[in-house]
Amino acid sequence: MRLPERLGSESERSLSTFRSRIGQADAFLIVTPEYNHGYPSVLKLLIDSANEEWKRKPAAFVCYGGQSGGLRAVEQLRMVLAELHVVTMRDTVSFVNAWEQFDDAGSLRDGARADAAMGAMLNQLSWWSRTLAAARNAEPVH
Ligand SMILES: Cc1cc2nc3c(=O)[nH]c(=O)nc-3n(C[C@H](O)[C@H](O)[C@H](O)COP(=O)(O)O)c2cc1C
Repeated sequence: MRLPERLGSESERSLSTFRSRIGQADAFLIVTPEYNHGYPSVLKLLIDSANEEWKRKPAAFVCYGGQSGGLRAVEQLRMVLAELHVVTMRDTVSFVNAWEQFDDAGSLRDGARADAAMGAMLNQLSWWSRTLAAARNAEPVH
């Protein structure tokens, strides 16, 4: 997807596909690196380009980076997503020194640990996804 440098009428058009996908989804899995204790600006642009489409839905995170494994970026994302009524999962799948975690073929060296963390997190996401979808259907908010 070609992204605009800032929000405006042009970006409204180019991001309409993204917005409609967010609208169709019942849950989100956000993957982010960490740069200088934050998340990338392009991710902020994507988040800001939708509004109602995010609301009353759950999100989980996979993050990666150096020593912090991307966790500081995720904590910032939680604050931003709260403004959009997104419920964020407590558990996070994080890769510290990500470049050490994968072999030359791109496979995880310690797949079992990541699988267990991902399984627990997706269980939470699945519960919230079903629960909030049922609640949105039962009582739409105007
Ligand atoms: C300019 C710069 C700043 C970074 N800052 C952080 C940081 O604050 N915390 C961290 O854990 N990793 C940091 N990293 C490491 C990146 O998260 C890591 O290189 C990651 O692989 C970048 O993701 P990408 O390759 O998908 O762009 C930084 C890397 C660069 C180049």
